[in-house]
Amino acid sequence: DPLELPKRTDARRFDSLRLPERADPSLLPANFLFGTASSAYQYEGAYRSDGKGLNNWDVFTHNSGKIRDGSNGDVATDHYHRYREDVDLMADLGVNSYRFSISWARILPRGRYGDINKAGIDFYNKLIDALLQKGIQPFVTLCHYDIPQELVDRYGGWLSPKLREDFRYYADVCFKFLGDRVKYWVTFNEPNVVAEYGYRSGQYPPSRCSGSFGNCTVGDSEKEPFVAAHNIILAHAAVVHLYKTKYQMEQGGLIGIVLHAVWFEPISQSPADTLAAQRAHSFFTNWFLDPIINGNYPSEMRQILGSDLPEFSEEDRTVLLKSSDFIGVNHYTSFYVKDCIFSECEAGAEGASRTEGLFLRTPSKNGVPIGEPTALDWLYIYPQGMENIINYVKERYGNVPVFVTENGFVQESRRNSTTAELLQDFKRVEYMDGYLNALTRAIRKGADVRGYFAWSLLDNFEWLHGYTKRFGLYHVDFSSLERTPKLSTAWYRRFIAKHAAAD
Ligand code: NOJ
Repeated sequence: DPLELPKRTDARRFDSLRLPERADPSLLPANFLFGTASSAYQYEGAYRSDGKGLNNWDVFTHNSGKIRDGSNGDVATDHYHRYREDVDLMADLGVNSYRFSISWARILPRGRYGDINKAGIDFYNKLIDALLQKGIQPFVTLCHYDIPQELVDRYGGWLSPKLREDFRYYADVCFKFLGDRVKYWVTFNEPNVVAEYGYRSGQYPPSRCSGSFGNCTVGDSEKEPFVAAHNIILAHAAVVHLYKTKYQMEQGGLIGIVLHAVWFEPISQSPADTLAAQRAHSFFTNWFLDPIINGNYPSEMRQILGSDLPEFSEEDRTVLLKSSDFIGVNHYTSFYVKDCIFSECEAGAEGASRTEGLFLRTPSKNGVPIGEPTALDWLYIYPQGMENIINYVKERYGNVPVFVTENGFVQESRRNSTTAELLQDFKRVEYMDGYLNALTRAIRKGADVRGYFAWSLLDNFEWLHGYTKRFGLYHVDFSSLERTPKLSTAWYRRFIAKHAAAD
């Protein structure tokens, strides 16, 4: 077709290749959401444009010296200026949904202590309209790690209950100005990671850590991760309550939360290791999901932590109960878990500080890893984990609707990696095929899974790893910011098209 744009031709150049097809898209429900996922700090750039305030990650990347390549999200993928092109890429893929997050400091540069930034609202209005015009449903996260620095300066982040009120105020602004067109809201992305990395190991802002971790700015009590988590859980509940009482009737959307959901496999069939794996789930994911669905912390946490775990009041619990229309699962990886209560565990092995002496989390058994390792030390390829985690959530929470809000494969980006080799992401194709295949098995066995989002549309800023790790279906050249489709775009496009054809 002589009228076809070169980029489009480019995007089709892998289409004639034979690619894995174990996963059968016709086994997914008819109105299934297929999407790609992103987040504001990792994508937008424009970190001081049009009135945006600084946030915790702007300050952290500039000051901490902890980003592998010394980079930051000042420009990132420049999505703020290139969102139209990116929406075109999505339309070309054929996705019907886009998961992105709103930058809190772009909407409220000084939190509730200053004005609403109209330019910020405009940006998201334009993005949402551009998506809807292409039939792509916005799936919007309110807080994907970033909070206005003003609020950190005022009260140090999630350790303060005051931030709950700020979050409610911010959410109200978003629902009011954007909610007429958004049918899927997420309060928090991976608050379990925020609590662990921000308040226990100190790797993420605000760099709080407890005794056993080095290289963090403040040493403090072992209770802090649980206090931060408690405030996040109550902030979530308050915002869900706000949405349900003030907006849901009129706007008709759903609201939920997203957790980092690792599958924990008992290292042996012994009752002790089986219980240890259960403890691992409780201290990692159920920590948030139990309160939000059932109104209280997992019983193992209460037993082990006692009064170090904050309490919910009766009133909290009424607001918490069933305060999520759906659960978002970010699933990438699996670990073995070994008991450390009834048996000895090696010193220094990986376990949570509060959970040291409770269980050991390890990627391998007798020297054999649970799945193929990748360029990230926490990511092992174990597709079966997808079926297991979905099934686990289904059993524990009464088949509440689930979205796989992230799943993806990482490529190492070396100084001497060539674009040509990065475009041949056959491993990503195999990864997605394997994990989606496992997802279809979970659905066939009755799980109510309603969507799948690939992390990520584009290569982007991977937190502590800066630009040295690539998760994109599209390659980004970080000097020219040019986007180029990888092999995986051809696979995902075909997968989605087959699903549509099967309807
Ligand atoms: C989950 C996080 O939500 C996202 O921000 C991150 O880039 C991916 N995992 C990959 O690590």
